[in-house]
Amino acid sequence: KKYNVAVVGATGAVGTKMIEMLEETSLPMNQVKLLASKRSAGKEVTFKGQTLVVEELVPESFTGIDIALFSAGGNISKQYAPEAVKRGAVVVDNTSHFRMDPEVPLVVPEVNPEALKRHKGIIANPNCSTIQMMVALEPIRQAYGLDRLIVSTYQAVSGAGINAMEELKTQALAYINGTPADKLEANILPSGGDKKHYPIAFNALPQIDVFAEADYTYEEWKMINETKKIMEDDSIKVVATCVRIPVLSGHSESIYIEVKEEGSDVSKIKDLIAKAPGAILQDDPSQQIYPQALASIDRKETFVGRIRQDIDIDKGYHMWVVSDNLLKGAAWNSVQIAETLHEMDLVRV
Ligand code: A2P
Repeated sequence: KKYNVAVVGATGAVGTKMIEMLEETSLPMNQVKLLASKRSAGKEVTFKGQTLVVEELVPESFTGIDIALFSAGGNISKQYAPEAVKRGAVVVDNTSHFRMDPEVPLVVPEVNPEALKRHKGIIANPNCSTIQMMVALEPIRQAYGLDRLIVSTYQAVSGAGINAMEELKTQALAYINGTPADKLEANILPSGGDKKHYPIAFNALPQIDVFAEADYTYEEWKMINETKKIMEDDSIKVVATCVRIPVLSGHSESIYIEVKEEGSDVSKIKDLIAKAPGAILQDDPSQQIYPQALASIDRKETFVGRIRQDIDIDKGYHMWVVSDNLLKGAAWNSVQIAETLHEMDLVRV
């Protein structure tokens, strides 16, 4: 069995990484089709030494496609994912559009691969910040249960796309060359969909996506709702504060958890992380060893360190969790879902 695979949004920050992940994947493949907007049609991309030409996305693009990886924004997924499914493809969608649909599995392969069995053609890739948090917390949840978690994120600009990365670089250069902060040009962040824009260079913006219910942003709601769906437990208390910082790639998170059961301690938590699939323990304060965003770039794993017992709460722990948001947070998790679908024989060819 060999699959025809399409990448939708192949010229974007995530799409480019999807192509890299497909170059490394064990998934047996026939053809790889690269799709983007009309603007990019004709652009050439090297894939495993061959030249592939980007094509304009149209409904007929999916004829003969078995697996379609989408990362071109929620509206494109809304419009074209059903077109792909109609033509027999399985869709792995990186946008938030289908994530909370009860018919659509929301999957981190290390955590809930069994949910793939219920798929009806579309599988959702969770939010980047949620994914790395799940990789770190699932082994702890399995061992001791999770009563609550409080997370603050320090998110890279690549999560907002290639143009946001360019905006950070341009503003940083302008500021260093003497442009005052109030004269820096900002057109994208904090959210392309919101009215006001602020500089990200040398700044920290406590807004990712637009504001929603109870003055939480959608990004914060995504972390709250997706955690409960992936862990299949609505009783976990989750709250998030999501912050954009001037880092190009690699999301960092400060996570506080309270476990349910008795018997945990820091060394047991560290052992669980050290053995967890997809996680790497980097925790040695005496040697200043802890996860860092820069070091996470181009790595598929989630790095966990700074694990400490809370000062006042016996069952409370703090940790620092870092991963490449374009890889485990997006492109790698999507390709890993495709590999898992293949291993579980869930791609209908
Ligand atoms: P294009 O480069 O042709 O605009 P990013 O998240 O880095 O901004 O990337 C978004 C991706 O989604 C790009 O590959 C972009 O292609 C693609 N995209 C945006 N609008 C469309 C559209 N109308 N049809 C197909 N692909 C689109």
